[in-house]
Amino acid sequence: NQVKIKSPGTVANLVCGFDILGLALNDPYDIMEFRLLDEPQVIIHNRDHFELPTDPEQNVAGVVLQAAIEKAGGNIGFEVTIEKRIKPGSGLGSSAASAAGAAVGANLLLGNRFSTDELVQLAMIGEKLASGVKHADNITPCILGGITLIRSIYPMDIVPLATPDLFVTVVHPQIEVRTADARQILKQKVLLKDAIKQWGNIAGLVAGFMRNDKALISRSLEDVIIEPVRSILIPGFDEVKQQCREAGALGGGISGSGPSIFMLSETEAIAQDVAGIMKAIYSRIGIDHYVYVTTINNRGVEVV
Ligand code: HSE
Repeated sequence: NQVKIKSPGTVANLVCGFDILGLALNDPYDIMEFRLLDEPQVIIHNRDHFELPTDPEQNVAGVVLQAAIEKAGGNIGFEVTIEKRIKPGSGLGSSAASAAGAAVGANLLLGNRFSTDELVQLAMIGEKLASGVKHADNITPCILGGITLIRSIYPMDIVPLATPDLFVTVVHPQIEVRTADARQILKQKVLLKDAIKQWGNIAGLVAGFMRNDKALISRSLEDVIIEPVRSILIPGFDEVKQQCREAGALGGGISGSGPSIFMLSETEAIAQDVAGIMKAIYSRIGIDHYVYVTTINNRGVEVV
């Protein structure tokens, strides 16, 4: 009646696919340990320095575990110890890792009674607590691994996509961008000409992943709706994007709601060059930063 899991960080949106596309990363990830209890309660321990709330009502994993207890019924509860390695507010799916990890951890202890759609529904309760809105573009790749498309959340329609061999470089400049704020500043209306460009790019990106067509992926990594608004919150964004593309990256942009920036590359050598460029830019600007060079995680939440 115990289980230990690894819950991966994720890159949501994948530039043009706001709220509908995402991929899982091999690094960073959280570790979560669960124990089944015999009364309906949730106990949370944090084994990290982020000082996240331990009140289940206020904790992303806590609300998901409470919902799992309600859904399962009976005299069950969970004790969870969370070792968070994905920094909250990084844009790397930190809240999704807690929410999805909680849903999968509970499910493992309950004999795998929930379907994937139900796990995503449960985990979205945590995302809502974190960002104010239900969205599944981080949760779904976190649970399933790889690259996923959320065609719809009402009704739930998840489409796992082919996962080309790509390297992912991520820079996390240590400034805070709250997802709720980064959503608030978005315009609610879109011009038809921009919508046409955007859906062309989304279709191109999905086709590029399915056909393993790197040139098509590269051409499609463009966002004319969200990025122009949000990138203002991220110092150095335009420079990072331009220089990384010049160094041979296929492209990239804001990871989730930021401030992290990700770039996809065909080779590890290019991904390392990209990391060097990111470090040089943020060192020059004088912003502390952390850089990951990693690959796409094809397993999702897993038992360790
Ligand atoms: N799709 C979400 C957003 C991901 O960009 O706001 C952040 O959690």
